[in-house]
Amino acid sequence: MVAELSAALIVEIDRTAALIASQTNICILTGAGISAESGIPTFRDKQTGLWENYRAEDLATPEAFVRDPKLVWSWYQWRRQLVHDKAPNPAHLALAEWQQNTNQRLTLITQNVDDLHEQAGSQVTHLHGHLWRNRCHQCTASYQEPDADKQSQLFDDKLLTCLHCKGYIRPDIVWFGEALPVEAWQIAEKAAAGCEVFISIGTSSLVYPAAGLAQLAKQNGAKIIEINTDPTPNTVVDITLTAKAGEVLPLLVELLLK
Ligand code: APR
Repeated sequence: MVAELSAALIVEIDRTAALIASQTNICILTGAGISAESGIPTFRDKQTGLWENYRAEDLATPEAFVRDPKLVWSWYQWRRQLVHDKAPNPAHLALAEWQQNTNQRLTLITQNVDDLHEQAGSQVTHLHGHLWRNRCHQCTASYQEPDADKQSQLFDDKLLTCLHCKGYIRPDIVWFGEALPVEAWQIAEKAAAGCEVFISIGTSSLVYPAAGLAQLAKQNGAKIIEINTDPTPNTVVDITLTAKAGEVLPLLVELLLK
């Protein structure tokens, strides 16, 4: 793994580890980029197959669901099929190892709706909900398939209705224009405002309020580290590690736990 990294990047990772090692409160925000190496397309990737003519931004909205619930539900069932057999990659595993073996206070926040952080063994707060949970769009009651053994129906695109109010069932995900879950946001704000180091991993930093957490951390004196394959509009970054999260994090965590 180390051999694949350039000498300049290894120097930067060393410098980053030294900066993090002396601090107590660490806040980490992850986005779709951390799951890309597990084979899950990011939101800004062009969609493929049946969905190549649709943009995620046009399907992941309450307006789209009200207009055409079948279309939006089918898209999520397709995404579930795409994600269900994916496993954590070295980036998720490294973060879990760090969280489990450190005396530092490490708060992991994700915008991702997959459960790869959990599968890796991390404790994580989800800002944008959970792909594998459903709820009623109308009365918000959570929905569980009455016959949980019906695996064949897992990705069925037939619309489901609420057992209480007959509203349509939707994934328990925060769509564009919807409020974040209050408790998750409070955890994120507290961790960002109280950390000495904030690490942004695999997020385009385009979608607020999550993208504002780095600014909140900076205003409170934290150093900001970004791990991303591409530049982002995040202007408060102190150290940028331009590489894949699955390449950077194993070495960074190895240095931190030495
Ligand atoms: N390692 C690190 N970064 C990567 C990798 C990788 N292997 N692959 C891609 N990236 C970066 C991309 O350069 C991009 O900046 O990950 C980022 C992914 O950006 P988005 O697709 O915009 O994902 P994210 O920032 O999580 O989106 C935020 O927007 O669509 C909504 O609610 C949805 O949670 C999502 C939110």
